[in-house]
Amino acid sequence: MYDKNIIVALDYDDEKRIYDLCNQIDPSLCRVKIGKQAFTKFGPKLVENLHTKKFEIFLDLKFHDIPTTVYKACVEAFSLGIWMLNVHLLGGNEMVHSARQARDEINIAAKIIGVTLLTSTTDENLKNIGLKERSDIVKGLAMIASKSNIDGVVCTPKDIKIIREINKKLLFVTPGIRLDANKNEHTQVYSPRDAIKLGADYIVIGRPITEAKNPKDILQNIIKTINEISNQNISTKEGLDSQ
Ligand code: C5P
Repeated sequence: MYDKNIIVALDYDDEKRIYDLCNQIDPSLCRVKIGKQAFTKFGPKLVENLHTKKFEIFLDLKFHDIPTTVYKACVEAFSLGIWMLNVHLLGGNEMVHSARQARDEINIAAKIIGVTLLTSTTDENLKNIGLKERSDIVKGLAMIASKSNIDGVVCTPKDIKIIREINKKLLFVTPGIRLDANKNEHTQVYSPRDAIKLGADYIVIGRPITEAKNPKDILQNIIKTINEISNQNISTKEGLDSQ
Protein backbone atom coordinates (compact mmCIF):
# COMPACT_ATOMS: atom_id res chain seq x y z
CA MET A 1 0.00 0.00 0.00
CA TYR A 2 1.30 3.44 -0.87
CA ASP A 3 2.82 4.98 2.25
CA LYS A 4 4.18 8.39 1.25
CA ASN A 5 7.06 6.59 -0.48
CA ILE A 6 7.72 9.45 -2.89
CA ILE A 7 10.18 12.18 -1.95
CA VAL A 8 10.12 15.15 -4.32
CA ALA A 9 13.52 16.86 -4.65
CA LEU A 10 12.94 20.63 -4.61
CA ASP A 11 16.05 21.50 -6.61
CA TYR A 12 15.20 25.06 -7.65
CA ASP A 13 17.14 28.31 -7.45
CA ASP A 14 13.89 30.24 -7.32
CA GLU A 15 11.89 30.21 -4.09
CA LYS A 16 8.69 31.04 -5.94
CA ARG A 17 8.99 27.86 -7.99
CA ILE A 18 9.40 25.83 -4.78
CA TYR A 19 6.21 27.27 -3.33
CA ASP A 20 4.35 26.99 -6.66
CA LEU A 21 5.15 23.28 -6.77
CA CYS A 22 4.38 22.74 -3.08
CA ASN A 23 1.03 24.44 -3.53
CA GLN A 24 0.17 21.89 -6.24
CA ILE A 25 1.20 18.75 -4.37
CA ASP A 26 -0.42 17.26 -1.29
CA PRO A 27 1.74 16.87 1.86
CA SER A 28 -0.31 13.82 2.82
CA LEU A 29 0.77 12.11 -0.44
CA CYS A 30 4.51 12.80 -0.62
CA ARG A 31 7.49 14.11 1.27
CA VAL A 32 9.90 16.75 -0.01
CA LYS A 33 13.67 16.98 -0.14
CA ILE A 34 15.62 20.18 0.40
CA GLY A 35 19.13 19.82 -0.96
CA LYS A 36 22.33 21.80 -0.94
CA GLN A 37 21.24 24.39 -3.48
CA ALA A 38 17.92 25.36 -1.92
CA PHE A 39 19.23 25.20 1.66
CA THR A 40 22.30 27.29 0.84
CA LYS A 41 20.18 29.89 -0.90
CA PHE A 42 17.04 30.00 1.24
CA GLY A 43 18.22 28.60 4.58
CA PRO A 44 16.30 27.29 7.60
CA LYS A 45 13.44 29.68 6.84
CA LEU A 46 12.51 27.49 3.87
CA VAL A 47 12.32 24.46 6.18
CA GLU A 48 10.12 26.44 8.56
CA ASN A 49 7.81 27.61 5.77
CA LEU A 50 7.36 24.12 4.35
CA HIS A 51 6.68 22.76 7.83
CA THR A 52 3.91 25.34 8.09
CA LYS A 53 2.48 23.81 4.91
CA LYS A 54 2.63 20.40 6.67
CA PHE A 55 5.38 18.86 4.53
CA GLU A 56 7.75 16.33 6.07
CA ILE A 57 11.28 17.23 5.02
CA PHE A 58 14.30 15.21 4.06
CA LEU A 59 17.23 17.60 4.49
CA ASP A 60 19.76 16.28 2.00
CA LEU A 61 23.02 17.95 3.06
CA LYS A 62 25.18 14.81 2.91
CA PHE A 63 27.49 15.82 5.75
CA HIS A 64 31.05 14.51 5.54
CA ASP A 65 33.60 15.95 7.97
CA ILE A 66 35.38 15.13 11.22
CA PRO A 67 33.02 13.51 13.77
CA THR A 68 32.76 16.54 16.07
CA THR A 69 31.84 18.88 13.21
CA VAL A 70 29.26 16.44 11.86
CA TYR A 71 27.82 15.96 15.35
CA LYS A 72 27.38 19.73 15.76
CA ALA A 73 25.93 20.17 12.26
CA CYS A 74 23.48 17.31 12.89
CA VAL A 75 22.38 18.87 16.20
CA GLU A 76 21.49 22.04 14.29
CA ALA A 77 19.78 20.16 11.46
CA PHE A 78 17.65 17.95 13.73
CA SER A 79 16.73 21.01 15.79
CA LEU A 80 14.86 22.24 12.69
CA GLY A 81 12.31 19.45 13.19
CA ILE A 82 13.11 17.66 9.95
CA TRP A 83 11.89 14.14 9.14
CA MET A 84 15.13 12.80 7.63
CA LEU A 85 18.81 13.78 7.32
CA ASN A 86 21.76 12.14 5.59
CA VAL A 87 25.52 11.88 5.94
CA HIS A 88 28.16 10.25 3.73
CA LEU A 89 29.06 6.75 4.93
CA LEU A 90 32.53 7.38 3.49
CA GLY A 91 33.05 9.53 6.61
CA GLY A 92 33.55 6.29 8.58
CA ASN A 93 32.17 4.61 11.69
CA GLU A 94 32.96 7.35 14.19
CA MET A 95 31.49 10.10 12.04
CA VAL A 96 28.27 8.19 11.32
CA HIS A 97 27.98 7.24 14.99
CA SER A 98 28.28 10.94 15.93
CA ALA A 99 25.47 11.79 13.52
CA ARG A 100 23.25 9.13 15.05
CA GLN A 101 24.10 10.33 18.54
CA ALA A 102 23.00 13.87 17.59
CA ARG A 103 19.73 12.47 16.23
CA ASP A 104 19.15 10.42 19.41
CA GLU A 105 19.69 13.49 21.58
CA ILE A 106 17.62 15.96 19.56
CA ASN A 107 14.77 14.00 17.96
CA ILE A 108 14.73 10.23 18.25
CA ALA A 109 11.72 10.05 15.90
CA ALA A 110 13.67 11.58 13.00
CA LYS A 111 15.56 9.39 10.56
CA ILE A 112 19.29 9.44 9.93
CA ILE A 113 20.51 7.70 6.81
CA GLY A 114 23.85 7.23 5.06
CA VAL A 115 24.86 7.70 1.44
CA THR A 116 26.69 4.70 0.01
CA LEU A 117 28.07 5.57 -3.42
CA LEU A 118 26.52 8.42 -5.38
CA THR A 119 24.49 7.28 -8.38
CA SER A 120 26.76 9.50 -10.50
CA THR A 121 29.96 7.70 -9.38
CA THR A 122 31.42 5.72 -12.25
CA ASP A 123 33.86 2.79 -12.13
CA GLU A 124 36.39 5.19 -13.70
CA ASN A 125 35.91 7.62 -10.77
CA LEU A 126 36.60 4.79 -8.31
CA LYS A 127 39.64 3.63 -10.27
CA ASN A 128 41.08 7.15 -10.28
CA ILE A 129 41.15 7.21 -6.49
CA GLY A 130 42.59 3.72 -6.22
CA LEU A 131 39.37 1.85 -5.43
CA LYS A 132 38.41 -1.30 -7.30
CA GLU A 133 35.41 -3.49 -6.68
CA ARG A 134 32.27 -1.40 -6.53
CA SER A 135 30.29 -4.10 -4.75
CA ASP A 136 32.97 -4.48 -2.05
CA ILE A 137 32.91 -0.74 -1.43
CA VAL A 138 29.12 -0.77 -1.16
CA LYS A 139 29.27 -3.70 1.26
CA GLY A 140 31.88 -1.93 3.40
CA LEU A 141 29.76 1.21 3.52
CA ALA A 142 26.65 -0.81 4.35
CA MET A 143 28.56 -2.36 7.28
CA ILE A 144 29.22 1.13 8.59
CA ALA A 145 25.49 1.94 8.34
CA SER A 146 24.62 -1.31 10.08
CA LYS A 147 27.16 -0.99 12.91
CA SER A 148 26.25 2.64 13.54
CA ASN A 149 22.61 1.66 13.96
CA ILE A 150 21.30 4.29 11.59
CA ASP A 151 17.91 3.94 9.91
CA GLY A 152 18.89 3.36 6.32
CA VAL A 153 20.93 4.13 3.26
CA VAL A 154 20.76 6.15 0.07
CA CYS A 155 21.75 3.91 -2.81
CA THR A 156 20.97 2.89 -6.35
CA PRO A 157 18.16 0.28 -6.55
CA LYS A 158 20.66 -2.17 -8.01
CA ASP A 159 22.63 -2.24 -4.73
CA ILE A 160 19.65 -2.99 -2.48
CA LYS A 161 20.13 -6.74 -2.81
CA ILE A 162 23.74 -6.79 -1.60
CA ILE A 163 23.05 -4.30 1.20
CA ARG A 164 20.10 -6.38 2.44
CA GLU A 165 22.48 -9.31 2.83
CA ILE A 166 24.27 -7.23 5.44
CA ASN A 167 21.22 -5.80 7.19
CA LYS A 168 17.59 -6.41 6.22
CA LYS A 169 16.25 -3.76 8.55
CA LEU A 170 17.78 -0.78 6.78
CA LEU A 171 15.48 1.58 4.91
CA PHE A 172 16.34 2.11 1.25
CA VAL A 173 16.12 5.57 -0.24
CA THR A 174 16.82 5.53 -3.97
CA PRO A 175 17.50 8.47 -6.31
CA GLY A 176 18.17 8.15 -10.06
CA ILE A 177 14.49 7.56 -10.80
CA ARG A 178 13.27 8.31 -14.30
CA LEU A 179 10.00 8.05 -16.19
CA ASP A 180 11.81 7.92 -19.54
CA ALA A 181 15.27 7.08 -20.88
CA ASN A 182 16.83 10.42 -19.88
CA LYS A 183 19.66 9.60 -17.47
CA ASN A 184 21.11 13.07 -16.81
CA GLU A 185 24.27 12.42 -14.78
CA HIS A 186 23.15 9.16 -13.16
CA THR A 187 25.13 6.13 -14.35
CA GLN A 188 21.97 4.05 -14.26
CA VAL A 189 18.33 5.01 -13.88
CA TYR A 190 15.28 3.06 -12.76
CA SER A 191 11.57 3.49 -13.18
CA PRO A 192 9.52 3.94 -9.99
CA ARG A 193 8.07 0.46 -10.61
CA ASP A 194 11.50 -1.22 -10.85
CA ALA A 195 12.93 0.66 -7.86
CA ILE A 196 10.01 -0.38 -5.64
CA LYS A 197 10.14 -3.94 -6.93
CA LEU A 198 13.85 -4.08 -6.08
CA GLY A 199 12.99 -3.09 -2.49
CA ALA A 200 13.14 0.72 -2.31
CA ASP A 201 11.21 2.13 0.64
CA TYR A 202 11.43 5.69 -0.67
CA ILE A 203 12.09 6.95 -4.18
CA VAL A 204 13.62 10.39 -4.64
CA ILE A 205 12.38 12.15 -7.76
CA GLY A 206 13.60 15.55 -8.88
CA ARG A 207 13.53 16.71 -12.47
CA PRO A 208 10.86 14.30 -13.75
CA ILE A 209 8.48 16.15 -11.39
CA THR A 210 10.05 19.59 -10.95
CA GLU A 211 10.40 20.17 -14.70
CA ALA A 212 7.03 18.68 -15.62
CA LYS A 213 4.07 20.71 -16.82
CA ASN A 214 1.70 18.61 -14.72
CA PRO A 215 3.56 17.54 -11.54
CA LYS A 216 0.36 16.61 -9.73
CA ASP A 217 -0.68 14.14 -12.46
CA ILE A 218 2.78 12.59 -12.54
CA LEU A 219 2.70 12.11 -8.79
CA GLN A 220 -0.74 10.51 -8.99
CA ASN A 221 0.43 8.12 -11.71
CA ILE A 222 3.43 7.01 -9.68
CA ILE A 223 1.24 6.49 -6.60
CA LYS A 224 -1.09 4.38 -8.75
CA THR A 225 1.88 2.29 -9.93
CA ILE A 226 3.08 1.73 -6.36
CA ASN A 227 -0.42 0.70 -5.27
CA GLU A 228 -0.64 -1.73 -8.19
CA ILE A 229 2.66 -3.31 -7.18
CA SER A 230 1.59 -3.72 -3.56
CA ASN A 231 -1.75 -5.19 -4.68
CA GLN A 232 0.17 -7.75 -6.71
CA ASN A 233 2.13 -8.40 -3.53
CA ILE A 234 5.47 -8.50 -5.30
CA SER A 235 7.29 -5.71 -3.58
CA THR A 236 6.94 -6.50 0.10
CA LYS A 237 10.05 -7.03 2.18
CA GLU A 238 8.70 -10.52 3.01
CA GLY A 239 8.44 -11.25 -0.71
CA LEU A 240 12.01 -10.15 -1.25
CA ASP A 241 13.24 -12.31 1.62
CA SER A 242 11.74 -15.44 0.15
CA GLN A 243 13.35 -14.87 -3.26
O1 C5P B 1 16.52 15.43 -10.73
P1 C5P B 1 16.90 14.10 -10.18
O2 C5P B 1 15.73 13.15 -10.04
O3 C5P B 1 18.09 13.49 -10.85
O4 C5P B 1 17.32 14.45 -8.69
C1 C5P B 1 17.93 13.53 -7.85
C2 C5P B 1 18.09 14.15 -6.49
O5 C5P B 1 18.63 13.17 -5.63
C3 C5P B 1 19.04 15.35 -6.45
O6 C5P B 1 18.51 16.27 -5.52
C4 C5P B 1 20.34 14.79 -5.94
O7 C5P B 1 21.06 15.70 -5.18
C5 C5P B 1 19.86 13.62 -5.09
N1 C5P B 1 20.75 12.48 -5.10
C6 C5P B 1 21.11 11.91 -3.93
N2 C5P B 1 21.96 10.84 -3.91
C7 C5P B 1 22.42 10.31 -5.04
C8 C5P B 1 22.01 10.86 -6.25
C9 C5P B 1 21.17 11.95 -6.25
O8 C5P B 1 20.66 12.35 -2.88
N3 C5P B 1 23.17 9.24 -4.99
